[in-house]
Amino acid sequence: MCGIVGYIGHREAFPIVIKGLQRLEYRGYDSAGIALYDGNQINLSKTKGKVEDLKNKAKEISQAGSIGIGHTRWATHGVPNDVNSHPHYSNSGNLVIIHNGIIENYEAIKQELTKRGYTFQSDTDTEVLINLIEEVKKTEDVKLGKAVQIALNQVVGAYAIAVFDKEKPDEIVVAKLGSPLAIGIGEGEFFIASDASPFIEFTNNAVYLEDEEMAIIRLGKEIKLRKIKDDAVAYPRILELQMNLEEIEKGGYDHFMLKEIYEQPRAIKDTYRGRLLADQGLIRMAGIDLNMEKFLNANRIIIVACGTSWHAGLVAEYIFEDLARIPVEVEYASEFRYRNPVITDKDVLIAISQSGETADTLAAIKLAKEKGAFVFGVCNVVGSSIARETDAGAYTHAGPEIGVASTKAFTTQITVLTLMALKLAKAKGSFSETKYREYLSELETIPNKVEKSLESNALIEIIADVYKESTNCLYLGRGYNFPVALEGALKLKEISYIHAEGYPAAEMKHGPIALIDEQMPVFVIATKKGHYEKVVSNIQEIKSRKGKIIAIVTEGDEQVKDLADHVIEVPETLESLTPLLTTIPLQLLSYHIAVMRGCNVDQPRNLAKSVTVE
Ligand code: M6R
Repeated sequence: MCGIVGYIGHREAFPIVIKGLQRLEYRGYDSAGIALYDGNQINLSKTKGKVEDLKNKAKEISQAGSIGIGHTRWATHGVPNDVNSHPHYSNSGNLVIIHNGIIENYEAIKQELTKRGYTFQSDTDTEVLINLIEEVKKTEDVKLGKAVQIALNQVVGAYAIAVFDKEKPDEIVVAKLGSPLAIGIGEGEFFIASDASPFIEFTNNAVYLEDEEMAIIRLGKEIKLRKIKDDAVAYPRILELQMNLEEIEKGGYDHFMLKEIYEQPRAIKDTYRGRLLADQGLIRMAGIDLNMEKFLNANRIIIVACGTSWHAGLVAEYIFEDLARIPVEVEYASEFRYRNPVITDKDVLIAISQSGETADTLAAIKLAKEKGAFVFGVCNVVGSSIARETDAGAYTHAGPEIGVASTKAFTTQITVLTLMALKLAKAKGSFSETKYREYLSELETIPNKVEKSLESNALIEIIADVYKESTNCLYLGRGYNFPVALEGALKLKEISYIHAEGYPAAEMKHGPIALIDEQMPVFVIATKKGHYEKVVSNIQEIKSRKGKIIAIVTEGDEQVKDLADHVIEVPETLESLTPLLTTIPLQLLSYHIAVMRGCNVDQPRNLAKSVTVE
């Protein structure tokens, strides 16, 4: 969950590494560090805090040199402080490392190294790894690349590492298992990063290391890839990246989150572009077409995901069962992987992940594959680990999502999953052609309706001001909008640090209603299509206990207006498509409340964008 950056070439490394770290800060931001080689010595600076703090601290060292590695951290071992920040030196001071991941057996290795006279400054597993590499290099009398390989065969865990050796200053050795690592290939220069954003303005050519691969990146040479386990040669596949600089910048918005909320009409369109051919009554999705029999013959679909992606999975459960009449189970990937689930080759597993790097989701995929299930991925990041590990898949095409709070990932995941459900429903003949056509046309109207929903922003800001000091909030929804309630609560929690819970509205009576008093804001999704009368009854129950009601309603609704303290309107649409609209005001509410509370919206405390540790 950390970000790593490296550069070796003909330019000054410092600005490239610092800018790269800033772009990767979404991956972790409790401390940061940089090591530069100036042709003579390694100059290292690291600090608790953000990359901006590092920039200041690094004024104390020479910033010269065209080789550099840097790190932005999300602490796993050891509190965030200067000493535990990366890079870490080996005892001799010759080797320096940056690491994203966890070395699980570091304690045992540390004990062994201590017996051999090694000392450790930090509490980190990474400092143990660099000293293990040094020990191997010394005792086996091998070069850096070999020493890294031998050492990695002794460790258990996950890593993306970059290692530099002062005695071999024309190369950086990198390796990957479980954490992402991309190498950008420029003219006489190489870039190393956790994703391609740090080098996108320099090159569009990148190699993504596969698990258990390592590379020696040497100036003036081609990249050499090897398998860590058996030293077999691996051949780099150079991808041409589609990403552009504009997509990863704020574009005039105060925060990435706000930009990404406003990008949703475009992102949803991009998701169905080329797939949804409403006038022809067609949905084109190669990943489904090529595997139609697997889906149609499946006993059930199991959806695995985490966080917001799990909420999109819950919406998909309703859509798949409702439209395609295929039984669906939705599981937290972290629970699924450890509970010895019954999986057979008649199951289809759909893994949903924005980043495509979430460790638990990845592990759930591997487990399902071992048991013979067909695994389909719904990812945003092209070329990500999950995209590569799955048998087939569909990208969401949302564009880079940088704010830690997922927004456009959620709506585009629902869009892809809706297309899939409709396609399967059509193949199964589970609903009429007229209804099918109605869905296709309605889906095409969603970007405009999202645009319309965004027009409530000014009103939402006023409402946010009223509730910004709340300490607890409830979110209620039924049917398709129950997962939206969960998602609304998650958004508020993670960026404004206000305690919030989402519930199916009918569950209120079974406990949570005891919490209602005049201090409690209750956000209720009460659209016309979707158990409207039942939700209205739930609103009455809250009102009679003096709770504050903020309702998301269908345009023109009068009934709820009379009951609620505030209403926010969204356009009317088919019931199964309402989550694409009702989630918008909840995203904006969380955003404004967080800004008003002075929270760091894009980088909330304790979090990281991609959770590559379990
Ligand atoms: O990249 P993924 O979609 O696999 O990430 C899953 C969760 O970590 C993610 O959705 C997280 O819950 C977000 N911070 C929610 O806004």
